[in-house]
Amino acid sequence: MTNEHPGGTAGTLIIGAGEAGLQLAVSLRQKGYTDPVTLIGAEDQSPYQRPPLSKAFLGGDMDEENLALRTEEFYSKHEIDVLPGTRVTDIVLDEEGHGGLATTSRDGAISFSKLALTTGSRPRKLNLPGKDLDGICYLRGIPDARSLRTRLAKASRVVVIGGGFIGLEAAAAARQRGLAVTVVETFDRLLQRVAAPPISDFYKKAHEKRGIDIILGSGVTSLHGSDKKVSGVELSDGTVIPADLVIVGIGVEPRTELAEKLGLACDRGIIVDSGARTSNPDIVAAGDCTIQPHPRYPAESIRVESVQNAVDQAKIAASSLLGHPSPAPAVPWFWSDQGDLKLQIAGLSNGYDDFLIRGEPDTEHFTVLYYRDGHFIAADAVNSPHDFMAAKRALTLGSTIDRSRATETGLPLKALIGEPSTESLRN
Ligand code: APR
Repeated sequence: MTNEHPGGTAGTLIIGAGEAGLQLAVSLRQKGYTDPVTLIGAEDQSPYQRPPLSKAFLGGDMDEENLALRTEEFYSKHEIDVLPGTRVTDIVLDEEGHGGLATTSRDGAISFSKLALTTGSRPRKLNLPGKDLDGICYLRGIPDARSLRTRLAKASRVVVIGGGFIGLEAAAAARQRGLAVTVVETFDRLLQRVAAPPISDFYKKAHEKRGIDIILGSGVTSLHGSDKKVSGVELSDGTVIPADLVIVGIGVEPRTELAEKLGLACDRGIIVDSGARTSNPDIVAAGDCTIQPHPRYPAESIRVESVQNAVDQAKIAASSLLGHPSPAPAVPWFWSDQGDLKLQIAGLSNGYDDFLIRGEPDTEHFTVLYYRDGHFIAADAVNSPHDFMAAKRALTLGSTIDRSRATETGLPLKALIGEPSTESLRN
């Protein structure tokens, strides 16, 4: 199969059919692009929402048919050619480097004049004795979540390896089903990659209160089994925690193989500029697979693993492909639903030198506000959506939040947003 326009225009090939790939296709159409758009993805499903997999879907409150991001009618109306269950196995650029030919796992070849990489990330795997025993599960895609949901219904003792978003969301879902749950985390606090210590401490207490055992600062050395099925998790101090199900959530690795094959610069992700352009300016990349500069964090390039980033960076990438000016970068934000606890994060707290707590953590409704050089930089809001919205607004405007009154819970946070700066970010 060769995907060619009757007039000979090969169109845009987007490799990776997650949130970023889909948004890129949609943005191209919204910006008036009329050449063919092909969205190719290795997963068997058309683009779907990943966040509910470790939350409502795992808890049994949401079904597979509600996960799709768009309908088949939408794709056909907007002439977006979605090829699920198809992997790009090889890719060659033409001599001028402006287009090329991709070979697929379905014995097809797709020619393109523009290329976008939205290849996402894959879960990091445990590399320990016993790693292939039955009952050791990862959680990234629909098949993982489907299998885990079935296994949870039959399990009684669950060990979760990794105290990040995925581990804690899965632990909460397992505990809500009444299972015995232990979380093992190598660092000395939970959520260390995404949140600051006050939030880590709160989540430890809150999960323990709900009956989850949390073991911090402990490595896993091997997985025990009998009859090829997992039976326990051995820790670095020799303790073995019995388990009939092990859920591993130890982070993700960006998928950079195709980018490397194309000779694009990569370092912990595909390196892109603020216009989502790779080191070959004719090829863009967006989402979890990228590492990017951010105006708020000029000292370093960052990898932002979130739906928000995938969507916003894809819009920027579409503009770059079409030679339009880039929209301004957006404020990073994240969320995590762990049972009845909703964490919403606005901004990145990296580099904070001061924080204050608004509300009382024991009530499970509170917000941590982070400051650097006296300026507001981020907020972690637990069961406090109004504070989250106000914090996001302040960051978008480039305003600070008056620290002197921020702990007055009777006063809405939005009333404390200062004057906008000239360098405001977009929502
Ligand atoms: N044993 C125990 N803990 C480990 C080990 C190990 N061998 N290796 C890593 N960890 C811990 C890390 O210290 C970290 O706290 O696992 C945690 C992984 O957390 P994240 O990096 O946040 O990754 P994860 O929870 O897997 O989430 C993956 O899904 O929800 C999204 O935004 C999330 O993009 C992220 C992805």
